[in-house]
Amino acid sequence: MDFFDRTAPYYDFFSDLVSFGHYARFLKRAVQILAPQEGEKVLELCSGTGRAASWIARAVGDEGEVVGMDMATSMVDVATKRYGTLKSLSFRVGDITKPWHLQGHFDGIFMAMGLHELPETEREGVPKRSYLALKERGRMVIADFNPEASGGKKDFLVSLFGLIERGNLSYLFFRQEEALRKAGFAQVKSFPELFGLLQITLAQKVISTRETSG
Ligand SMILES: C[S@@+](CC[C@H](N)C(=O)[O-])C[C@H]1O[C@@H](n2cnc3c(N)ncnc32)[C@H](O)[C@@H]1O
Repeated sequence: MDFFDRTAPYYDFFSDLVSFGHYARFLKRAVQILAPQEGEKVLELCSGTGRAASWIARAVGDEGEVVGMDMATSMVDVATKRYGTLKSLSFRVGDITKPWHLQGHFDGIFMAMGLHELPETEREGVPKRSYLALKERGRMVIADFNPEASGGKKDFLVSLFGLIERGNLSYLFFRQEEALRKAGFAQVKSFPELFGLLQITLAQKVISTRETSG
């Protein structure tokens, strides 16, 4: 059984505990940057226990649609048990590195702390598939460790990954902005968090002057 399958019921509790509550604040900030609107359709990749998806579902309301996708069955079970009563929200078990068969359907795609978990060879596929699954003026938000950190911050992250994310070290060398632009996103803006160790990236299919609420 995979780590996330085993830890699903306690995942939020422990991630908030070890981060002194910062994890929840980081997720909230990322949802704020996505800025989901009433009636919108949003896909969350690697949705885990469904916490962020539930906030997004409340923002889009009953007329919207929010789909959370995660490959850990226990995560999907926990998410469904906790938030299954929200009308616009559903969760499905799925490996996001496999084809999604979704085209031009979503207004937004959200992904928090999922990209670094993917095998190196699969990371570039996510912006590509997201671009296709989004509507013409769609947007994507990626919240994760900062792969564009430099100097001492990069050194710190490399050491941290050496301790707790050894298998995912390649993420710290992932050229995220380049991958998003290569996929077709016209505008990519990044917001540093936690002294630049974390980062929230907003990628938009068309250039927008929309202000991101702070
Ligand atoms: C660090 S957790 C983050 C969960 C949630 N986004 C959050 O921030 O609380 C990473 C999640 O990604 C999921 N995951 C990893 N690889 C995946 C894949 N290839 N397809 C779908 N889900 C995946 C794991 O099962 C886990 O639930």
